Amino acid sequence: MSARILEGKTFAAAFREEAGKRAKILHQKYGVTPGLAVIIVGENPASKVYVRNKHKSCEELGIYSEVIEMPETATKDELIAEIDKLNASDRIHGILVQLPLPKQIAAYEAEILERIDPKKDVDGFHPVNVGRLVTGQKALIPCTPHGCLKMLQLAGIPIDGANAVIIGRSNIVGKPMAHLLLAENATVTICHSHTKNLKEVTKNADILVAAVGRPKFVTADMVKAGATVIDVGINRIAPKKLLGDVDFENVKEVAGAITPVPGGVGLLTVAMLMQNVVTACEMQIAK
Ligand code: GUN
Repeated sequence: MSARILEGKTFAAAFREEAGKRAKILHQKYGVTPGLAVIIVGENPASKVYVRNKHKSCEELGIYSEVIEMPETATKDELIAEIDKLNASDRIHGILVQLPLPKQIAAYEAEILERIDPKKDVDGFHPVNVGRLVTGQKALIPCTPHGCLKMLQLAGIPIDGANAVIIGRSNIVGKPMAHLLLAENATVTICHSHTKNLKEVTKNADILVAAVGRPKFVTADMVKAGATVIDVGINRIAPKKLLGDVDFENVKEVAGAITPVPGGVGLLTVAMLMQNVVTACEMQIAK
């Protein structure tokens, strides 16, 4: 039997609607419009598309949005000066520095992200928010893993007591995903390039999250019958051809539920960013 397909657009629409409603309440109750600033440095074509989508999504939901475009040659100090201005702005409740940064400043990524006021850190990458997530305090949570969690919940996939296996240990997806599932009482295993007998581990997963960055890395023989498989991979193998980390056609014959690529969790990221901008605004009003 073929797996249930978890379509990103259905869940993204629900999350966007929720963000839009909460933005409206902030406006009606407090006369405040939540505001997002996105800084993009350089000309990375994929980043430009992502930033345009974020801006468009804000406009549709009644969220104020600024895009700050800096040249490829921008220095770390110039970028930090821009962050400082946004930290001080009353109009802006959320700040996002689009990654990856150009080569000459990529080495300073951690320092740059730490400069963002944690209250405005809508990516949830600041160590204060990471620490809050890990210790179970209210935090701004990275958008992609947060979207995956909310999708699992809305889809009615049991998490409490489930064996959850995550392939990939990035700060953007793997690590926060592990903590979110742990907080929901899953038994969590994180696998990576040094993991021995990967297939034996993944075969045990009720929930398998693939965030590796390698096309069709997860094959049908790695998946337990009936498992839920979440594919976070976005691998561009040709200008118009995207492949996930999961061999979708074969894995869907084994899994119980699966997300496609494209059309899967990628769509959730922007929707959850909209929620984070509203959450950041709510927290700043409440302080
Ligand atoms: N580039 C790819 N994904 C992301 C993300 O979630 N946040 C930021 N800032 N940059 C990204």
